[in-house]
Amino acid sequence: MHVVIINGSPRTKKYSNTDKIIQAFGKGMIQSGATYELYSLSDRKEWEDAREAFYTHTRILIALPLYVECIPGLLLEFLETLHKKEENGTEISFILQSGFAEGCQLRCGEEFLKMLPGQLNCRYGGCLVKGDNFGIRIADDNQLEQILTPYEKMGELYGACGTFEFAEAKKFTGPEKFAFPIRILLAFLFKTVAKKKFIEAAKAWGCTQPLDDRPYAE
Ligand SMILES: Cc1cc2nc3c(=O)[nH]c(=O)nc-3n(C[C@H](O)[C@H](O)[C@H](O)COP(=O)(O)O)c2cc1C
Repeated sequence: MHVVIINGSPRTKKYSNTDKIIQAFGKGMIQSGATYELYSLSDRKEWEDAREAFYTHTRILIALPLYVECIPGLLLEFLETLHKKEENGTEISFILQSGFAEGCQLRCGEEFLKMLPGQLNCRYGGCLVKGDNFGIRIADDNQLEQILTPYEKMGELYGACGTFEFAEAKKFTGPEKFAFPIRILLAFLFKTVAKKKFIEAAKAWGCTQPLDDRPYAE
């Protein structure tokens, strides 16, 4: 099986968490005997080849980060340049990943992705949904291995059957919603430790005004 993978993140390859996920997932796919070619939409020079690959092949996998609860504008822009496939038989699957960990906050994006393949005269091949990926960019090697090894395993399973319609993919999301005490604890940590870290990071980047500054409020 040969798969066309499209990275829908606007972040360049070097900084894209989605790219790290694709690399791990692709490694798993190869272990199961599948092959793939990858296009990153952050590089507009790759768009023409990505379109060509979409029209030529029948197994498409779009990997994307959740941006403001739904799909990145850049990916939408690319999809709007595609015309419907003349012949049916193409299947589009998705890897939807995000920063926050609860599965429930990715479901709106997932619903949108379910109806997308139909617009292009393609079938929906399922969606691998998982959050808690903010840290990929700054993770050390051990942390990276912990985050990415499960994606490698998913790649192996996807490479064997070509869809996400298997039980492990459904369980992959993790908790749909955190238990109430954990939500209280997280709210407290966000208001204290995380806030302090955000302020320090902003200062390190040269930010001189408070993070809640509203210069245009008046
Ligand atoms: C502009 C922007 C909007 C984001 N919106 C969300 C969001 O609504 N929910 C969420 O859980 N994560 C959100 N994130 C976090 C990303 O989904 C997450 O960091 C992802 O791993 C980024 O992948 P990438 O580096 O390939 O773009 C957002 C990140 C950015 C930069």
